[in-house]
Amino acid sequence: MRGKFITLEGMDGAGKSTHIPDIIKLIESKGVEVISTREPGGTVLGEQLRALLLNEAMHPETETLLMFAARREHIANVIEPALARGAWVLSDRFTDATYAYQSGGRGVSAEKVISLEAWVQGNLQPDLTLLFDVPVEVSVARLASARTPDKFERESAEFFTLIRNAYLDRANKHPNRFRVVNSNQALSDVKIEVKNIISTL
Ligand code: TMP
Repeated sequence: MRGKFITLEGMDGAGKSTHIPDIIKLIESKGVEVISTREPGGTVLGEQLRALLLNEAMHPETETLLMFAARREHIANVIEPALARGAWVLSDRFTDATYAYQSGGRGVSAEKVISLEAWVQGNLQPDLTLLFDVPVEVSVARLASARTPDKFERESAEFFTLIRNAYLDRANKHPNRFRVVNSNQALSDVKIEVKNIISTL
């Protein structure tokens, strides 16, 4: 049986990555193999593209194209083979991030993202997307106290407002796939929400 594809999304500073080890354990407790991966990245070439994407200034459409180039490698070499052999795939970000950051944040037209998505993914879509949602001021405050910020993490509160709105818009448009997690509460409460969602799979 084909595995399930789960993606984690949210603004920088929304705290999504903290939950990866717990989600892996929850899935493994069902007796299935799980692959944990990330975007941009997940392959040798993808990680090289990630270094460029997170550090170099570039035209917003170049950024979009490189995100999808990295994604093409990731799908062909990691995601599809794993799903085909019945493993579950947990990806820290996927195409919803391109809608949020490159389209919502940078203003690349949604039509261009839609056509790249169709080209690169065919019918592949996540079975479940957890959107970790926090108010912009919370994310900005968390980033201010974090390690050296990358290109995206240095962006303004206005940029993050666009990102948050674009993510919430994606969640409204795809209610069957998205679960919005309130990440602005005690970590133990966020963990309970996440556990409840994963246990329904
Ligand atoms: P991370 O910090 O969650 O690992 O994500 C890396 C950064 O890449 C994050 O700031 C969001 C950004 N990103 C995009 O702008 N578009 C995309 O399609 C993806 C996957 C990530």
